[in-house]
Amino acid sequence: MMLLASPWNGYLEKIAASGSVTDLDAVEHELFGRKAGALTMALKELGGLAEAERKARGQELNAARIALTEAITNRRNELKSQGMGSLATSDTLDTTLDLPIKERGHLHLIHEYIRKAGEVFGRMGFDVAEGPELETEAFQFDLLNFPKHHAARDSQDIFYIHGSKDPENRELLRGHTSTVQIRYMQQVGRKPPFRMICTGKVYRKDADATHSPMFHQIEGLMVGKDVTLANMKAIMETAVKNLVDENVEFRWRTGYFPFTEPGLEMDLRWRGDESKSREGRWLEVVGCGMVHPNVLKNVGIDPKKFQGFAFGFGVERMLMIRHQIPDLRAFFTGDLRFLRQF
Ligand code: DAH
Repeated sequence: MMLLASPWNGYLEKIAASGSVTDLDAVEHELFGRKAGALTMALKELGGLAEAERKARGQELNAARIALTEAITNRRNELKSQGMGSLATSDTLDTTLDLPIKERGHLHLIHEYIRKAGEVFGRMGFDVAEGPELETEAFQFDLLNFPKHHAARDSQDIFYIHGSKDPENRELLRGHTSTVQIRYMQQVGRKPPFRMICTGKVYRKDADATHSPMFHQIEGLMVGKDVTLANMKAIMETAVKNLVDENVEFRWRTGYFPFTEPGLEMDLRWRGDESKSREGRWLEVVGCGMVHPNVLKNVGIDPKKFQGFAFGFGVERMLMIRHQIPDLRAFFTGDLRFLRQF
């Protein structure tokens, strides 16, 4: 410690002895306080001294100021690091403790599946299109070649919107994504050849273990000069193998849809009877067929020059088959014990 004239030396000792930042602040104030600090006062008094005395006293005070300021800074740093040192012992972390695992969320399996379908068909050159859920009878039925009095228009299946302005073309929630075939082909400037899929929500008045009033469909459409049933068969078998299981076989049956000619239904079953639940049963998965010439006419495509196929399948149904899920309602109740498995 540097030796200063008294009383400054006494202050150096006080600084060294202060046990906390608060004590140190008090000593600093005693010395440098603006009104009554000992050093402040002594410096103020310099002006009243005679020339020779002022010089000597000035040097003494300056040395004291420098030494005391430095001592205060050093002591303050010491006290602070002591504080941190004690925090390190009083507030330690036990890094060996098991903490609850932070779970990362993920997409709902339906949306994951829709993305996967986009990839599978994307690899085969299909565009992804979209259409509105609030539709009209024209898109849901008329343009798809449904006769005016077809049973499917029965309001027992379809959610009609109350107070629709046009009684001949009522508003409704779409009951299938086939509406998007029309919207896609009607787009200005759209000309065959094209291939598209559309995925989205559809609505029907149905609710039990295998039906829900809202579910998802994947619609596909491919039109060109020489697109045939053989193309459809190849594309759909490839897609369904990717989307359900490599180890399935297919059966094709004729089916009826107003917007196809001919219409077909595709069934699948697992090869072999390796599990009781799969038991070689045929499961109906997709409705499809060659696009009806009237549908092409309705959107201004000449059916003598172009032809194509379309298909539509239910996302939930495909997932139920793929994962052997017995009750469709599991998709929508938000039970994490179910959702976490995927
Ligand atoms: N729209 C039909 C349904 O919801 C499914 C369907 C069948 C779509 C045949 C098609 C098709 O594009 O060609 O049951």
